[in-house]
Amino acid sequence: MGYDARFRVWRGDIDGGSLENYTVAVNEGEVVLDIIHRLQATQTPDLAVRWNCKAGKCGSCSAEVNGRPRLLCMTRMSTFATDEVITVTPMRTFPIIKDLVTDVSFNYEKAREIPSFAPPAGLAPGEYRMKQVDVERSQEFRKCIECFLCQDTCHVVRDHEENKTAFAGPRYLMRITELEMHPLDTRDRREMAQEEAGLGYCNITKCCTDVCPEHIKITDNALIPLKERVVDQRYDPIVWLGNKLFRR
Ligand code: SF4
Ligand code: F3S
Ligand code: FES
Repeated sequence: MGYDARFRVWRGDIDGGSLENYTVAVNEGEVVLDIIHRLQATQTPDLAVRWNCKAGKCGSCSAEVNGRPRLLCMTRMSTFATDEVITVTPMRTFPIIKDLVTDVSFNYEKAREIPSFAPPAGLAPGEYRMKQVDVERSQEFRKCIECFLCQDTCHVVRDHEENKTAFAGPRYLMRITELEMHPLDTRDRREMAQEEAGLGYCNITKCCTDVCPEHIKITDNALIPLKERVVDQRYDPIVWLGNKLFRR
């Protein structure tokens, strides 16, 4: 059954803004993105929102609903009481462009900093052969839709602009793990993960895992195993001795 919902939506740009109140019609089965679209169609034609697939697969419609990082297209109106005021704000960790749209280029910069896949010499694309059992663990990470909700929620960079240069964030630490677990990759990224991507900043609070719409176990399956690999490298007595002898 339809009803009128009360919404507070953040309106503004890089110079500032405020929460504006709206009352919008809601029909059965709708999601928050439907309501934002109805708002655009009936009251605020200039309201900026990024979206694309409306199916939870493109990762474009990321924002915060009642302070929690969410995909607008996957947040059902039925999860809220009909008399609840629903607050929709842009992702807090990234600079505002307009209204609900943020500049997520931080994430693309972090992606570019990761040394790319390096297959064994002499193996051309199309000649890669791997056993399913060897790719099973990292295959989970390929479900990532790059919504950046995990990046938005991680306390290391949320409200800590100063940490952004030294911390790649859960999505890109997970990408390093994916490459580390790749059976054909020949690079060692463990030092880079610790020293350049800021793995040590992660204190495994698991907030990233909690908000991931793909339900990837980012902390347990990517970040903790990566930390273990770094420890293996740093505190392995043979590696330690090698470093002492050859890195004077
Ligand atoms: Fe989004 Fe999950 Fe990928 Fe993070 S790991 S960007 S939360 S899909
Ligand atoms: Fe941040 Fe996730 Fe680690 S929220 S602190 S990257 S476990
Ligand atoms: Fe594509 Fe929401 S519009 S994930």
